[in-house]
Amino acid sequence: MGEAFSSLFRKKPLHLLERDDAHNGEGLKRELSVIDLTALGIAAIIGAGIFSTIGNASFYGGPAVVFLFIFTAIACGFCVLCYAEFASRIPQAGSAYTYTYATLGELLAWIIGWNLIMEYAIGNIAVAISWSDYFTGFLSGYGITWPSYLGMDYLTASRAASKVQDLLTTGGATLASLAANSEYNSLMNSYNAWMSAPSIGGLRIICDLPALIITFLVTALVYIGIKESKRFSNTMVLIKIGIVIMVILLGVFYVQPENWSPFAPNGLNGVWKGVSGVFFAYIGFDSISTTAEECKNPRRDLPRGMIASLLICTVLYILVALVLTGMTSYKNLQVGDPLLYVFGPEVANLPWIAGIIAVGAIVAMTTVLLVFQIGQPRIWMAMGRDGLLPPIFAKISPRFKTPSFSTILTGIVVAVPSLFMNLTEVTDLTSIGTLFAFVLVCAGVLFLPPQKDKSKFSVPYINGKYLVPLILLTIAILSFIYNREGVENFFVLEGFSHKIPYLAFNLLAMIMAILSFRKNLSLIPVLGLLSCSYLMTELGIVNWIRFGIWIIVGFIIYFAYGRKHSKLASTSASNH
Ligand code: ALA
Repeated sequence: MGEAFSSLFRKKPLHLLERDDAHNGEGLKRELSVIDLTALGIAAIIGAGIFSTIGNASFYGGPAVVFLFIFTAIACGFCVLCYAEFASRIPQAGSAYTYTYATLGELLAWIIGWNLIMEYAIGNIAVAISWSDYFTGFLSGYGITWPSYLGMDYLTASRAASKVQDLLTTGGATLASLAANSEYNSLMNSYNAWMSAPSIGGLRIICDLPALIITFLVTALVYIGIKESKRFSNTMVLIKIGIVIMVILLGVFYVQPENWSPFAPNGLNGVWKGVSGVFFAYIGFDSISTTAEECKNPRRDLPRGMIASLLICTVLYILVALVLTGMTSYKNLQVGDPLLYVFGPEVANLPWIAGIIAVGAIVAMTTVLLVFQIGQPRIWMAMGRDGLLPPIFAKISPRFKTPSFSTILTGIVVAVPSLFMNLTEVTDLTSIGTLFAFVLVCAGVLFLPPQKDKSKFSVPYINGKYLVPLILLTIAILSFIYNREGVENFFVLEGFSHKIPYLAFNLLAMIMAILSFRKNLSLIPVLGLLSCSYLMTELGIVNWIRFGIWIIVGFIIYFAYGRKHSKLASTSASNH
């Protein structure tokens, strides 16, 4: 019994993983330099977040959303250092999955691998949906009307149809009055999709076809090869950075400082409501670690590429958030295409720029799709090699030198749901899943033995003995002074279920303070772990429940398959 339990935490030997030939030289092509990696990082980071989900976050948080961008950047900053240490020590394609396997053991490694599906595959569903929105908007700018029932998900259209029915029957509205009111533009668009959709056997045909098509095109590129993918992404990254910089430089001229006041109209609660959207914008710097086996010098270049891409994007994001909330009132920003909106007729009125921004968004999201479509199969490949997934997941195409089965499967897993799913729900799932991976990577660093080889990157060691308790105490006192209402509400029993994540976080913070004090833990990973856990608590109980269900399904698959087929299981059996 004890043995069965401890086998759940069996680890891959770190000294073997640290070797350059740890994956038996199994043939991926080493093509990527530090510039390519930085470009790939930016390719993965700048996308639907800054072109789309920032709108909702600014609407709730007001100009103070900038603080959320800064806080999230700091949290990601701690994590990027932890990822960098792992990437430098374990230059293998499995990323967080392999790192966890070496430090926290098999069960958690499996859970992380399973979870990374949320980051990469589900994240890409969100990006594909957003891509389709901008693409159809771009076409309509040129007078080409894409049938709306082939450009959205079923649920959005059916919900719009019932809402319009409600407004007509109980709200006393008419179709003409709704169509004339710009507030109902998006609702009426979805309603029209519902009404105009053809039906087969009573079922309306409504699906997001452009999302499906772009996913297949990107998957084909990823399948053909890393070199082709790299060339494509490098060019696209230049275009998207250029367009984001142009938005900032032009936008500055339209900033009206009075829009920044009040700075936090909905208080801290409003700011935290944007966590999912803002964190989503930062996801991606970690994904380049999945290309470790395709880098020319992964130990040196991966840390540099990750850190550089995160720094560049952080600066751009903070500037975009300031400009966006300065150009118009935060109240107008609850739109899916906020950057287009602020240059549209209601604000700056620069119609010529609309096409450029739409191209920027399309290009940006295409590169995110590309890097995540690269990342997912490589994680599956690593899991297939370890026996936690069937061996076919590890199969490499002899011709293209890419993980063939896993790449195609990723294409299907992303493309099919993107036809039917709704953006907000997938963004939330992606954010919670990725945050959990970040938490475990930071925790994993605490389990790494000290780095002796100085040529490899290490997280700078700052003793957390006094600093962790001190920082936590300061935050507690500041919350008590400045967020008294929030603290008092916390002790009210009403809505208890929503407070469970906060309770769990407080407990975790106390445990970490005690452990730091007793074991002199390294400050940066502890702060990374705590800040990402805090961001998770802000994602709401509904997301936690979905996340919990996802993890339970993961456990079931592990016990049904991975546990028995794990290569470590056969190694330990043969050792007995
Ligand atoms: N950070 C990526 C994006 O914003 C996921 O699209």
